[in-house]
Amino acid sequence: MPRTDPVSPARRVAFEVLTRVEGGGHSGDELRARGEGLSSRDAGLATELVMGVLRFQGQLDYLIEHFSGRPAEALDMQVRLILRLGLYQIRYLDRIPPHAAIHQSVEIAKQSHKRSAAGLVNAVLRKVHLRPVDWPDLSVAFSHPEWLLERWEDQYGSETMAGIVEANMAPPHTFIRVPPGRTPPEGADVTPVKGCWLVDSAQEAGGFRVQDIGSQSVVPLLDLQPGQRFLDLCAAPGNKTAQALEAGVRAVAADQHRVRLMQLTDLGVPLVRLDARRPLPFGRVFDRILVDAPCTGTGTLSRNPEIKWRLRPEDLPELQARQAAILKHALDALAPGGRLVYATCSLEPEENDQVVALYKDRIVRILRRIPGRDLGDGFFAAAIQGTTC
Ligand SMILES: C[S@@+](CC[C@H](N)C(=O)[O-])C[C@H]1O[C@@H](n2cnc3c(N)ncnc32)[C@H](O)[C@@H]1O
Repeated sequence: MPRTDPVSPARRVAFEVLTRVEGGGHSGDELRARGEGLSSRDAGLATELVMGVLRFQGQLDYLIEHFSGRPAEALDMQVRLILRLGLYQIRYLDRIPPHAAIHQSVEIAKQSHKRSAAGLVNAVLRKVHLRPVDWPDLSVAFSHPEWLLERWEDQYGSETMAGIVEANMAPPHTFIRVPPGRTPPEGADVTPVKGCWLVDSAQEAGGFRVQDIGSQSVVPLLDLQPGQRFLDLCAAPGNKTAQALEAGVRAVAADQHRVRLMQLTDLGVPLVRLDARRPLPFGRVFDRILVDAPCTGTGTLSRNPEIKWRLRPEDLPELQARQAAILKHALDALAPGGRLVYATCSLEPEENDQVVALYKDRIVRILRRIPGRDLGDGFFAAAIQGTTC
């Protein structure tokens, strides 16, 4: 008889995904790629484990030290991941019996060529209890790096900062885009953003595009009219291009990354691969331009929790320089009297107000969405008028 694998498929995938994320991978992409053959139940558990471990990593690492007597960062990376996964199942999920979580964790350690670590994993996880533990500071209690909490508190105040943290620690809601004239799926709930509906999960999307409500709030700032020439400069994977096309514009979609740009093929619009930090290759101007700039993504930590552990304050100046260069070249391609919207899914002023400050006299509208205060991801958008001649 063939021997069955003692590690469940969901835990195996969760461990593989977390290992890839440690190496720089993106949790959502890795889950999609590695979770392909899983049943929907296993895929759900794998997602819950990966996202939960990344969201609560600050607390989990404190618990590792608390129960093992060693700082988490002093442990081998894979052993640390196995302990995070085991602790998360024991202390944060109520439907997994501790003995099952321990057994599975020990098996993962054995199979990961960490046989010597299996004893350590077993010993540490057996000590874990469910009683409350006093967190040593706010950074651990909120499971966010201290520098991010401090800058959000300075920027938005402590109450809003706590709301951002709470939203980041919960799974995101699922919103879909329902174009005009189409009927939303049964059970979908209306939202304050026209065409945006709330569903229980991506499985309930009814074939409509899943797109966050914050993201859907940006395109209306363009005030698109039928027949206008529209350039989407950082377009991939095309959510906002698709939304803009609902208005009957003549769109061109551009992006730096060829593979990402290919995701727009079905939209039937001209696709242009370019680096918008350089002068744009168009011999004409556009009535409307969207710059949905590459950014830190600090408004999306609920769906991309690894960002908070990777980002460093010193990353911001380089991103700001990139965003400012893209915006400058985009404005050069804007028709007189046209309108450009600069947007990010970041909460950081360096990527938002500071980038558009040079054009402040031409800003006609600003949108700010903050997780916890507003539904969905955090977004910033500024609508800038073209010059009059
Ligand atoms: C926030 S994403 C855009 C999301 C997209 N607008 C949507 O709603 O589906 C930013 C995009 O900018 C692209 N990008 C990054 N640097 C760029 C550059 N220098 N020139 C053009 N595109 C760039 C990235 O490849 C990425 O697809």
